[in-house]
Amino acid sequence: MILVTGGAGFIGANFVLDWLASQDEPVINLDKLTYAGNPDNLSQLQADARHIFVHGDICDRALVSALLTQYQPRAIVHFAAESHVDRSIHGPGDFIRTNVDGTFSLLEATRAYLSTLDDAGKAGFRFLHVSTDEVFGTLSTTDPAFSETTPYAPNSPYSASKAASDHLVRAWHHTYGLPVLTGNCSNNYGPLQFPEKLIPLMIANALGGKPLPIYGDGQQIRDWLYVGDHCAALRRVLQAGQLGETYNIGGWNEKANLDVVHTLCDLLDELKPSTQSYRVQISFVTDRPGHDRRYAIDARKIERELGWRPQETFETGLRKTVQWYLDHQDWVRKVQSGEYQQWMSTNYAQRQEASA
Ligand code: NAD
Ligand code: DAU
Repeated sequence: MILVTGGAGFIGANFVLDWLASQDEPVINLDKLTYAGNPDNLSQLQADARHIFVHGDICDRALVSALLTQYQPRAIVHFAAESHVDRSIHGPGDFIRTNVDGTFSLLEATRAYLSTLDDAGKAGFRFLHVSTDEVFGTLSTTDPAFSETTPYAPNSPYSASKAASDHLVRAWHHTYGLPVLTGNCSNNYGPLQFPEKLIPLMIANALGGKPLPIYGDGQQIRDWLYVGDHCAALRRVLQAGQLGETYNIGGWNEKANLDVVHTLCDLLDELKPSTQSYRVQISFVTDRPGHDRRYAIDARKIERELGWRPQETFETGLRKTVQWYLDHQDWVRKVQSGEYQQWMSTNYAQRQEASA
């Protein structure tokens, strides 16, 4: 079996669902169920004995060690993290605790566990660390895309904490021989994404008749990858990645934020028409401090060495995503209760509306 951390969050839940849909190998899913972790994401696995859910913290080394001893997994896929840049600006402490201390704790528990395995067990074991393109910092419009050898230059508390975790993973390989693999992926979108992130937030606000808050001039560029494609890339890295290597994972889909929001409005106009276009709800607001201008991923290494390429285009992936949110309004309403309202007021109340 494999141990997944953070498997009740957006990408982790998609990974667990895809994994169990395509093979029979059981999953132990360790998740703290923070505001971003949602057991409903896994409700279809309730009666599935191949999914063992454990409510706990990756920083709890005794718990992680006990799980490793009890279940003897052949791999760890490490998603658990604080993941939202805006939250890291308002409160960086949780990011250092989970992303840095938590990854350290997991690496140490894994190192101790590996020492108990025989040679075959050690040789087959993998620690797959799920990371981000944000560790490379920001690009101008003419810079080449991030490659695996681009120097790290993180700019936000979130990306600095992820960069720190990447360095720990790398060091545990070089110093202790831990069999690690790292994926640095661009912006994911798709079903089950918490509506604090750009795409699900804009869909939810559009349908709720609320403003669509574009930070700054909306010309910041992100590379977008459908979550199912990211999960397929991770399965491939786990299966065939070279130990100690990092793989950049991206969608070859660079888009300016304003263009993404225009496309979303147009899709909603088609799929859920209202009296006027959703575009009228667009509102330009105060920018994110330290906002990275452009991310772009050169994903040629994973294609060349492991044969992975994304299957979805931005058009097909976005259409599926909008349809999923339209079909799952109850899921959205449920996650919007409680802490979500507090966060919306913390992040947006003080942003001045500006003209474009
Ligand atoms: P998410 O915020 O939706 O989910 C994170 C999950 O981790 C939640 O289920 C949460 O409960 C859990 N968690 C948080 N702290 C924990 C702790 N201390 N112990 C155990 N569980 C804990 O995040 P996501 O968007 O699914 O991202 C997953 C991973 O992928 C993260 O490591 C993130 O840095 C990385 N990543 C995300 C993107 C993206 O676009 N979302 C892109 C590239 C990389
Ligand atoms: O690049 C990978 C990263 O992508 C992941 O590592 C992070 O976990 C993930 O959250 C994401 O980070 P971003 O900061 O790029 O994602 P977010 O959805 O928060 O914002 C996308 C862009 O949209 C960014 O330029 C900020 C902008 N934005 C975002 C929000 C929430 C707005 O203009 N308005 C908004 O209300």
